Amino acid sequence: MDTAAVSRETEAVPSHNSPEKTTEKKVVGVRRLKEAMPTPTKTRIFTVANQKGGVGKTTSAVNIAAALAMGGLKVLVIDLDPQGNACTALGVDRNKTPGMFEVLVDEVPLAHTIQKVPGFAALECAPANKELAGAEIAMVSFVARESILKSALLDYMSEREAAGSRLDYVIIDCPPSLGLLTINALAATEEVLVPIQCEYYSLEGISLLMETLGKIRKALNPLVRVSTIVLTMFDSRTRLANDVADDVRRHFPQELIDIPIPRAVRISEAPSFNQTVMTYDASSPGAIAYLGVAREIAARGVVGESVSRTEGVKYP
Ligand SMILES: Nc1ncnc2c1ncn2[C@@H]1O[C@H](COP(=O)(O)OP(=O)(O)OP(=O)(O)O)[C@@H](O)[C@H]1O
Ligand SMILES: [Mg+2]
Repeated sequence: MDTAAVSRETEAVPSHNSPEKTTEKKVVGVRRLKEAMPTPTKTRIFTVANQKGGVGKTTSAVNIAAALAMGGLKVLVIDLDPQGNACTALGVDRNKTPGMFEVLVDEVPLAHTIQKVPGFAALECAPANKELAGAEIAMVSFVARESILKSALLDYMSEREAAGSRLDYVIIDCPPSLGLLTINALAATEEVLVPIQCEYYSLEGISLLMETLGKIRKALNPLVRVSTIVLTMFDSRTRLANDVADDVRRHFPQELIDIPIPRAVRISEAPSFNQTVMTYDASSPGAIAYLGVAREIAARGVVGESVSRTEGVKYP
């Protein structure tokens, strides 16, 4: 993609003060790709998980979500990490609405937490408020505590569907642990997206994640599986990064999206401007790579998991 592929369209939104006066319009800029992405046959729910910290979970969650939304799809990001990094990157105020703590602990409907992400036509976020850090302890005595998110999400998805505005993608950003928050996400999802940082020890944690998934399949959710692997912070100049990438290719040929996300300054700068790299610098290599990954995810959602994938762009 080049810059020309992203157009800054404008949508006229009626002013809140004078809904009747159609001449008075507030203009809001919305980023859209010229080439739309295919709509999945049903809502696809991804949990972005890896118990290792700092591997690019949040960065991948928000940028893939942003790219899918720019492709014309309806996307919800659930920030399930008390750190609230996804909220920061999406420019969502964690204190404005109830958050995931209230959803999980106080049975507040997910719909009450939803905030629109500025600058996108159909990207929403359910924020992680600070109280979420205490949710795992608060939930310990609850009945069916592992499936609370699943019921809340299913209710919200049904509401959206009934309103004729079905969600295309739900992307859940998890904390770096396999505790009750992550288990709630894994119980609610069919697809797990695992970001793997191309560094030493990267693959070691994956076996623990796979073991946990095996237990969740038996006890809670027979359908959950790792469907997607993304290589993050890839530095093609290092032998180690290439070796890790080769290992992942060998072990996960179906799951890997072979468009490594380069280690890139623009990606790490974007959150400090409350943005994803998709809006912060859409023509930067990081944004182009995340766009490629999102397109591939969208393409797989249409052809079905067993059909071969389109060929990925490889970084030199
Ligand atoms: N491709 C990249 N290039 C450069 N920096 C990156 C890239 N991807 C992520 N980062 C930076 O690395 C750090 C960790 O990334 P991120 O927060 O996405 O990881 P995480 O797995 O969500 O972390 P945590 O486990 O704490 O939730 C952040 O400062 C982020 O800006
Ligand atoms: Mg994170």
